[in-house]
Amino acid sequence: MHSILVTGGAGFIGSNFVRFMLKKYPSYRIIVLDALTYAGNRENLSDLEKDSRLTFYHGNICDRTVVDNLVSHVDAIINFAAETHVDRSIHEADSFVQTDVLGTLILLEAARKYKIERYLQISTDEVYGSIEQGAFTEEHPLAPNSPYSASKAGGDLMVRAHYKTFGTPTLVTRASNNYGPFQYPEKLIPFFVTNAIDDIPLPLYGDGMNIRDWLYVDDHCEGVDHVLHHGVIGETYNIGGGNERTNIDITQIILKTLNKPDTLIKRVADRPGHDRRYAVDTGKIEKLGWKPRFRFEDAVEETIQWYVKNESWWRKIKEKQKAYQEFLKKNYEDRK
Ligand code: NAD
Ligand code: DAU
Repeated sequence: MHSILVTGGAGFIGSNFVRFMLKKYPSYRIIVLDALTYAGNRENLSDLEKDSRLTFYHGNICDRTVVDNLVSHVDAIINFAAETHVDRSIHEADSFVQTDVLGTLILLEAARKYKIERYLQISTDEVYGSIEQGAFTEEHPLAPNSPYSASKAGGDLMVRAHYKTFGTPTLVTRASNNYGPFQYPEKLIPFFVTNAIDDIPLPLYGDGMNIRDWLYVDDHCEGVDHVLHHGVIGETYNIGGGNERTNIDITQIILKTLNKPDTLIKRVADRPGHDRRYAVDTGKIEKLGWKPRFRFEDAVEETIQWYVKNESWWRKIKEKQKAYQEFLKKNYEDRK
């Protein structure tokens, strides 16, 4: 395998993955296909602009002509492209279904047509729904609770159907909550870090006791690389950080690291359909030889400092999303 199509490569995890792969495999060539939605950002790849092994293509995974043309030049596809924010999916779900389900189907059809060696779908632990105790294995039925996770589950089922019906060489990974550099500042950690830097309140949903399993983005990239090269075709692999934290715990870590007061925490009405806890059993991928390497305490500190040092990166984005933040603020009030 020498050439890979990485869709959504200008987003948070996709851009970290492209950097990770080009460093690890000097002979690989990568084509990025990204629609540059509000979440996509060419700057996320700016350090790689002069790398001749990387080609950037601005286009949509729902565009068959573009997809066919690019897929005809590669050995493998990794699909990171998606609408990804749960809160946005509660207000507008059409684009989620369009990209996360139909876009996935169009990529699968191209993978089949051009006899791709491997098609890897980047999915999420959210497709299993919420779990009070224990952890979901890959065998657990899908029970998504938000329009976002429902659209991701739709994509996963399309992948399964393609493997079963056509023998398309598919793989699926389902990861837990990622954190790290270049994450769009609407997601919990970068949103709260950048608000705290500016002494703006941190809107904590509900009782703040919801639990997420935090995975450092480089550990996720290594897991995806591992499944790409060693995964069994047709199989699904969970990827988790083994770091369960409540939202209030994460919020306090951020405030303490930045030396900001707890009074910045603003309790707001809960997210509708808010999943209480996510947890995945990672035994299957561990048998393949992967496990997370980064210690949460070190990686989260490094991540917070990355946002402190890269203010110009996030300030431009936050300027552009002011209208959305105002909309959200009004929304918390309406929910009460
Ligand atoms: P992101 O929102 O930061 O990036 C998504 C990227 O996809 C953007 O660059 C965007 O421009 C691009 N995109 C969106 N629609 C497109 C389309 N129709 N055609 C081409 N490009 C399009 O997302 P992320 O957090 O980096 O997530 C990447 C993938 O990982 C997603 O599939 C997501 O479901 C999955 N995932 C994310 C997490 C997490 O914690 N962030 C955890 C598990 C799984
Ligand atoms: O579990 C993997 C998923 O993690 C990915 O598939 C999604 O793409 C990604 O967005 C993420 O979903 P979450 O809903 O868990 O992430 P988010 O950062 O939106 O929220 C994390 C937790 O923090 C959640 O319990 C809601 C809460 N929260 C979030 C925001 C943005 C708040 O309390 N206040 C906020 O302002």
